[in-house]
Amino acid sequence: MKKKNIALYIAMAGLASLLVMGVAYAQDEIQWLEHDIFVGRERPAAAFPHALHADEIGIDCLDCHHIYENGENVWDDSEESDCTACHKLEAEGKTMSAEKALHANCKGCHKKEGKGPITCGECHPWKKK
Ligand code: HEC
Ligand code: HEC
Ligand code: HEC
Ligand code: HEC
Repeated sequence: MKKKNIALYIAMAGLASLLVMGVAYAQDEIQWLEHDIFVGRERPAAAFPHALHADEIGIDCLDCHHIYENGENVWDDSEESDCTACHKLEAEGKTMSAEKALHANCKGCHKKEGKGPITCGECHPWKKK
């Protein structure tokens, strides 16, 4: 391929991938989870399309968000939503570490449902799409 053709090919491939993503969900709807408690990160931020999960798939807010009081989940959308407000670098009592909690929530459901990414690179892409 001539240099000029390669450049055109790259431009078109880029455009095509934008179009494909546009069908699944708009790019600006992807939330990147990059909590600052992870000092010296090993992996890039994790892609998390919140609207896809909460609105399109229609997963109950309480499947992911919680505040437990006497064993009951009393979370509502005026309450704390930052997972790392409670889940820290290391487990504290019954509260598992942040990495474990996020992986258990995200990968746990994807495995159970047989849908959604379960490999490292799909959730932690080195190059943001
Ligand atoms: C379903 C999505 C998903 C998959 C699959 C996944 N992760 Fe994660 N991972 C996350 C999320 C979400 C966080 C929290 C990131 C944040 O908030 O900064 C996280 C956090 C981490 C962290 C702590 C932050 C850091 O960079 O030090 C590490 C390490 C990590 N993941 C490694 C892995 C490895 C290795 C694999 C593959 C074996 C993997 N993850 C697979 C979603 C995923
Ligand atoms: C599949 C899991 C999941 C579902 C379902 C879900 N959320 Fe979230 N939500 C998250 C995660 C993860 C974050 C980022 C938390 C963090 O920063 O630690 C978040 C963040 C938020 C935030 C903080 C603002 C923002 O957008 O970052 C609000 C508010 C929120 N969610 C409300 C809701 C409501 C209301 C519902 C139900 C209609 C819902 N969520 C359903 C996982 C979920
Ligand atoms: C207000 C504090 C708090 C916040 C905010 C919080 N958690 Fe938790 N989480 C807990 C506690 C406490 C437990 C342990 C409950 C028990 O076993 O009694 C827990 C348990 C879990 C578990 C184990 C299974 C379960 O649901 O009990 C997962 C997975 C989890 N959290 C993920 C998350 C994710 C993902 C977020 C953010 C969307 C989050 N947590 C936000 C306090 C919190
Ligand atoms: C209760 C179930 C459930 C939880 C919890 C959940 N997911 Fe998903 N996720 C799904 C399902 C189902 C799909 C597949 C959607 C499809 O292909 O139609 C999906 C798809 C995805 C995709 C691919 C989006 C696409 O357009 O292909 C990403 C990225 C993702 N999830 C990240 C996460 C992260 C990060 C978390 C944790 C913060 C998480 N998910 C928690 C059910 C879940």
